[in-house]
Amino acid sequence: MSKTIATTAFAGQRPGTSGLRKKVTVFQQPHYLENFVQAIFDSVPELNGGVLVVGGDGRYYNRTAIQTILKMAAANGVAKVLVGKGGILSTPAASCVIRKYGAVGGIVLSASHNPGGPDGDFGIKYNISNGGPAPEAVTEAIYARTQTITEYQLADAADYNLDTLGEGELAGMQVVVLDSVLDYSELMASLFDFAAIRAWFAAGHTMRFDSLSAVSGPYAKHIIEGVLGAPAGTVVNGEPLEDFGGHHPDPNPAHAHELMEAMFAADAPDLGAASDGDADRNMIVGKKLAVTPSDSLAIMAANATLIPGYKDGLAGVARSMPTSQAVDVVAKALGIESFETPTGWKFFGNLLDANRATLCGEESYGTSSNHVREKDGVWAVLFWLNLLAATGKSVTELVSAHWARFGRHFYSRHDFEGLDTDAANGLMEHLRGLLGGLAGQKLHGLTVKLADDFAYTDPIDGSVSEKQGIRVLFEDGSRVVYRLSGTGTEGATLRVYLERYVADTAGHGEDTQSALAALITISRELAQIAERTGRLQPTVVT
Ligand code: G6P
Ligand code: ZN
Repeated sequence: MSKTIATTAFAGQRPGTSGLRKKVTVFQQPHYLENFVQAIFDSVPELNGGVLVVGGDGRYYNRTAIQTILKMAAANGVAKVLVGKGGILSTPAASCVIRKYGAVGGIVLSASHNPGGPDGDFGIKYNISNGGPAPEAVTEAIYARTQTITEYQLADAADYNLDTLGEGELAGMQVVVLDSVLDYSELMASLFDFAAIRAWFAAGHTMRFDSLSAVSGPYAKHIIEGVLGAPAGTVVNGEPLEDFGGHHPDPNPAHAHELMEAMFAADAPDLGAASDGDADRNMIVGKKLAVTPSDSLAIMAANATLIPGYKDGLAGVARSMPTSQAVDVVAKALGIESFETPTGWKFFGNLLDANRATLCGEESYGTSSNHVREKDGVWAVLFWLNLLAATGKSVTELVSAHWARFGRHFYSRHDFEGLDTDAANGLMEHLRGLLGGLAGQKLHGLTVKLADDFAYTDPIDGSVSEKQGIRVLFEDGSRVVYRLSGTGTEGATLRVYLERYVADTAGHGEDTQSALAALITISRELAQIAERTGRLQPTVVT
């Protein structure tokens, strides 16, 4: 039996860069989650009679939300739901399961790298049958539906037991509780040379994988400590906790500071890695060296044929616009296409589906390939492990050799968090107003080549996305890029991306912030950051 429950619309249920992300307390309002979920069912009629995947990163409210979603799925005619044990599926594992079992789509519960717990954040997003985040046409339809909704459907059933593997039934709907790790682990085994990585560990090489008490723990432990034979304790903070044990589960040098300390210590392991709340992000660290995500993507692309899953070469590569141009240089050398897309993993979906790109990456610590349609933290770490095992080189040797061959793209991101929204919007408008007059101007010794508000035309479906960030490109290849974050839940965050290319090896040892000093000054002055936001320094520098 199911009930029809009357409701009224909530303002502001428009999905952002990666789904609807709000404070847990917002989701706890009566009908808030239900309205959004019903809007998904109303906007994707194929779910009626179809297969749906459900899972999340285990953060606070994950189990509650899954019970509601299961009851609503049953009431909306879904034939079968595949749900991860305990409600756990990392974002890439959800993508893998959607693809493997031919589901119509998936509902993924996570606020990614945002802190969790009763006072933290929660999130929900819909993924389509290719396993990737729904494109804008779908998310806009869902949003439009949330604004006119008057009722939702809910099965009158008891909570489903998510902790026992196997098949069952909820109000006439088939439910299968899956092992959260197994399908994903099999996919990894099909891509990487596990024997070589096993031998690398057996030879005494060491790594530290910091799961930041988030969902990568069970995946990393099973694969790295289990299948690949790394010693117990290689994965630290490996138990997913509802509040991430107070960790800010964002794998960057600022937030994964315990890992950074370990990697800068005298007895640092050979490889350091971390992943975020839902295990789609990754950070790679060598001894005393954090590899920028942009460099990581470029190095992976340049060495991909060493990995069994990519031995035949890459169809092409893609990066988000603010990601450094390092991978473009590699693509040129390899004679393959490179694409520049707006920020957000969903923009890679069409390129991957059409086999125009094989590897994709973003400066925001995301890298992945056509094996799923999400970014994939554990996959990226296994890729690096495989590179280390195949070459016998250290992280530092691989990075230095890469810079020597292709030149170095110094790169840094300066975030100004928690800004007044009007001030932040005003700053972006001010920049837009400058665009017409910038080309040809000389700023602190650098000449502006082009300045624009990035717009993207999808080469596959022709859809156009405008206002995707302000780019200021200089004659020497340097860039300053400005964007407002699309994933925050409080105030506005201004992101300033800084990049400078240095071809000559003699300059590669310089400190990043000092190599970027002129660009940093230009970025502050052009946008009038201090005047408009009252901030003299960024809150986070990565
Ligand atoms: C999420 C998306 C990424 C995107 C990032 C940008 O993690 O999955 O694809 O790069 O958000 O976040 P921002 O806060 O800069 O909008
Ligand atoms: Zn994430």
